Amino acid sequence: MVKRIAVLTSGGDAPGMNAAIRAVIRTATYYSVDVFGVYEGYSGLVKGKIEPVGRFSDSINRGGTLLMTSRLPEFHQKETRQIAIDNLKAHKIDALVVIGGDGSYQGAEALYHMGFNTISLPGTIDNDVVSTDYTIGFDTALNTILDAVDKLRDTSGSHQRCSVIEVMGRKCGDLAIYASICGGAEIVVTNETGLNRSEVFGILKNAKKNGKKHAIVIVTEGIVDVHNFAKEITKETGYESRATILGHVQRGGSPTAMDRVLASRMGSFAVDVIVKGFSGRCIGISGNKLIHKDICEALKMEPRITNIYEIIEKLI
Ligand code: ADP
Ligand code: F6P
Repeated sequence: MVKRIAVLTSGGDAPGMNAAIRAVIRTATYYSVDVFGVYEGYSGLVKGKIEPVGRFSDSINRGGTLLMTSRLPEFHQKETRQIAIDNLKAHKIDALVVIGGDGSYQGAEALYHMGFNTISLPGTIDNDVVSTDYTIGFDTALNTILDAVDKLRDTSGSHQRCSVIEVMGRKCGDLAIYASICGGAEIVVTNETGLNRSEVFGILKNAKKNGKKHAIVIVTEGIVDVHNFAKEITKETGYESRATILGHVQRGGSPTAMDRVLASRMGSFAVDVIVKGFSGRCIGISGNKLIHKDICEALKMEPRITNIYEIIEKLI
């Protein structure tokens, strides 16, 4: 019988994390299970920052995470994780809900291997958790990027320029690919597509020849220095180019309706799964159905390749 659970957020914050925490708290209350909040992710867990939380009112619309977050390299060490488990046990916690990305999942798996029940929820703007179609925060970040792309389109159109836009995503190109489709970009460059300079220059030169007054190129972070790349585009294609790195603005803001719904569904489902007696699971959505998987199997899954970028060349 699960009587008491705890919840934390870890890794990069993502819009919708608060909505997920709120859903965990309220669903637990529905089942008469007590909920504690762990402040500052795994770092707070090790420091014992574990406190009862109220109903988490006025949080569903708020970006960031009200429980705060952290990155703690020492969590790779068993001794550090043992302190975390001791702290959880001292508070008589039966299960820990971890909301975070791939790295946080690995921390949750490591705790589970040490005998502590963890249930993980995908919270990251990157959409790089392979055991779910969508992560909490992806839709909001995508809409933030789209807003920026639309604005850059105004100015690059007015100056007949090429706008090179760097977006986040770590190794995952989903933000860039989805933003390219909904933002009407000519070219997307991600780890999935690779960077073929002569192809990029060829497409842009062709676009210019066909009368396109301006162009948009969206690039996932970590692939190329976008300022240098913009200079190369200016030299090779005739489009005067400017680069913009969107940066951490992509992580902020009030969650979209879709992220609030996803976070509420996943948070509530996580508690259903705990109450039913499961352990070491992670929550996902597949074909609009909530699913739960063994976390060890989930972390072994092959990266999902988003090949929808293939339509972009047909839309130029
Ligand atoms: P995200 O969860 O957004 O992918 P990180 O990759 O930074 O973010 O991971 C968040 C935290 O999870 C790390 O700072 C670390 O504390 C913990 N973590 C990551 N990988 C492991 C691992 N292999 N074992 C234990 N803890 C880990
Ligand atoms: O995982 C979310 C993310 O925003 C990535 O897209 C990005 O690479 C990274 O976190 C940035 O991390 P930091 O906030 O430590 O600069």
